[in-house]
Amino acid sequence: MINIRDYHSIVVLTGAGISAESGVKTFRDDDGLWNGYKVEKVATPEAFDENPNLVNEFYNLRRQQLISSVKPNDAHIALAEFSHIYTGNFTLVTQNVDNLHEQGGSEHVLHMHGELLKARCVNTEQIFNIDSPIDPDTKCQCCQRSGTLRPHIVWFGEMPLYLEEIEKRLLECDLFIAIGTSGQVYPAAGFVQMASMTDATTVELNLKPSDVHSSFNHAYYGPATQIVREFFS
Ligand code: OAD
Repeated sequence: MINIRDYHSIVVLTGAGISAESGVKTFRDDDGLWNGYKVEKVATPEAFDENPNLVNEFYNLRRQQLISSVKPNDAHIALAEFSHIYTGNFTLVTQNVDNLHEQGGSEHVLHMHGELLKARCVNTEQIFNIDSPIDPDTKCQCCQRSGTLRPHIVWFGEMPLYLEEIEKRLLECDLFIAIGTSGQVYPAAGFVQMASMTDATTVELNLKPSDVHSSFNHAYYGPATQIVREFFS
């Protein structure tokens, strides 16, 4: 295994695989969310326009599960512990909308696909913390109107968040590590190539090879709770 302390600026990208052992379903594995739901019915702006109740229900359910029963696992905790003792630049980017990195002790997490525990007003674009269901009667805190809140989630066809900052960090880093992501969704799947442009070392940690595994210099396979702890020790 490479010695992580040889590097001065690290960017970590996480995907659904890091939360899998906490009991959060991934999207594309055999029992993944996109096997039970049609993406275009619950994760697009068009779906929200057509049937906001269905879309809200999908995220209400996941928000409720997150609040009531999901806990961070040792992979989240190992990453957080490392970030606190590491003396170089450390950037954690996640595609996950859960808050398990934060629950595990991480700070300044860049949630590029949004956050389940936030809602956004479509009139004012203001963002609010939310721990209860959004429904058509939920009044917005800023405009006091009903029906203006939506989940603060990046849907297909929408622009991911923090891209400028992420790109800057990728071009500056000397080590890029992707954990538990299938490499099927861009732009995140292209981060390995962006990091490689400035000769950063690139590492994949996953249960099995991702769709972009051949772009990485190194790969270690196994459940996140084992390989993340081992890699960041
Ligand atoms: P996917 O469901 O596409 O991929 C999950 C990845 O996790 C796969 O590569 C699995 O091999 C790996 N995996 C599963 N269990 C694991 C474990 N215990 N340890 C380590 N790895 C494991 O999830 P993402 O790549 O995160 O976007 O999906 C990317 C985006 O697609 C999501 O953010 C979401 C989705 O549509 C939005 O909702 C905007």
